[in-house]
Amino acid sequence: MRIFIAGMDGYLGWPLAVYLACKGHEVAGADIFMRRKWVKERGNHSATPIRSMRDRLGAFREVFGKSIAFHVGDLRQYEFVHHVLGDFRPDAIVHLAEQPSAPYSMIDIDHAMFTQTNNLVTTLNLLYAVYDLCPDCHLVKLGTMGEYGTPNVPIPEGFFTIEYRGKTDTLPFPKQAGSWYHLSKVHDSQNIAFACRSWGLRSTDLMQGPVYGIRTEETQADERLLTRFDFGEVFGTALNRFCAQAVIGFPLTPYGKGQQKRGFINLIDSMRCIELSILNPPDRAEYRVFNQFTEIFSMVDLAQAVKEAGEKMGISVQVAHVEVDPRVEAERHLYEADHQKLLDLGLQPHRMVDALEYILRDLTKYKDRIEAKKEHILPTIYWSKEKREAAAGLRLREVALR
Ligand SMILES: NC(=O)c1ccc[n+]([C@@H]2O[C@H](COP(=O)([O-])OP(=O)(O)OC[C@H]3O[C@@H](n4cnc5c(N)ncnc54)[C@H](O)[C@@H]3O)[C@@H](O)[C@H]2O)c1
Repeated sequence: MRIFIAGMDGYLGWPLAVYLACKGHEVAGADIFMRRKWVKERGNHSATPIRSMRDRLGAFREVFGKSIAFHVGDLRQYEFVHHVLGDFRPDAIVHLAEQPSAPYSMIDIDHAMFTQTNNLVTTLNLLYAVYDLCPDCHLVKLGTMGEYGTPNVPIPEGFFTIEYRGKTDTLPFPKQAGSWYHLSKVHDSQNIAFACRSWGLRSTDLMQGPVYGIRTEETQADERLLTRFDFGEVFGTALNRFCAQAVIGFPLTPYGKGQQKRGFINLIDSMRCIELSILNPPDRAEYRVFNQFTEIFSMVDLAQAVKEAGEKMGISVQVAHVEVDPRVEAERHLYEADHQKLLDLGLQPHRMVDALEYILRDLTKYKDRIEAKKEHILPTIYWSKEKREAAAGLRLREVALR
């Protein structure tokens, strides 16, 4: 199949391009290297030393004898989107090209506005270009489990059947997102569903949980093919931060009570879920939702799992809660979310417990790079003025940084 990856230079985009090209698909992609700039703007870097796109493409050609087409450009520019899709005429597009960090979107008005405009405009441009050029093309869009929030009822995969005042209907499940970033995904979902209803497009909206892992079978072939691994408060997920803290001998720092639960997925499974979605497209005019995660953990469960994996390797790991959770979120809540549809399509999930030791071993190689930026791990971005004030005398910062 001809597959276009929007956001090909990112954490998921690069290993996905390599994975799909190795499976025999014709792959093209675009990016404007914003993720590299955002991380630099926050004064941080990837723990893994990542290569330029030119080096990555060259290494891929050398190792696998195949090529991947790549265009540098801003997907907020409609002419650019129209041009690259017009040239390539994809059967499927995987849309990853968005600002993906909740804390980044919560920094201030500029970052909130950038996140929402960037994310909504890239999606709208892709919808319009698909409608104009290749209306049969399947748009696979990366959403997030964070769109649902944490309701006190089980979370279905996108839709639920409800009886209200004697009538019954199947409707989108209500969304209660917890940041400007997560809300940009909610707005995207509405826009995509509308385009499917009105123009007969087809789309799969993947409500993905946090992804963990560094290596895939293909990128292990050569160090130059490595994807990024961020560990700071802005772009590092909780698990990434915990793993980075473990290898430099810092306490792991769950926020608040640490009872917040989320659904996680291994990088290898994330690639496979996207492939399964592409190979099993929806009908024309169909907008469907898959919940893309494989295991649910609370933050203290995660910290405990990293502690156990570290201790197996002879690393002594402490856990020290950040007293004030910088986010406005439920610290204790129900989290029962369905995730059956991708399993039905053939997903065979990996377990986190089997991956942690590899992640820690990989990161140990880059310990100096983490050590050099360790001051970026603890939270400084707060969801509200009240949170910032409450955290002003945070004891843990002094303890952890001494
Ligand atoms: N990584 C996760 O744990 C996770 C979890 C749930 C959802 N997602 C979603 O998956 C997608 C990919 O995530 P990721 O972790 O690979 O993020 P990433 O930031 O590493 O990748 C996104 C890529 O898109 C590019 N991009 C953004 N805006 C662009 C624009 N206007 N023009 C051209 N390129 C642009 C960036 O430069 C970056 O390389 C995102 O939409 C994210 O919200 C990720």
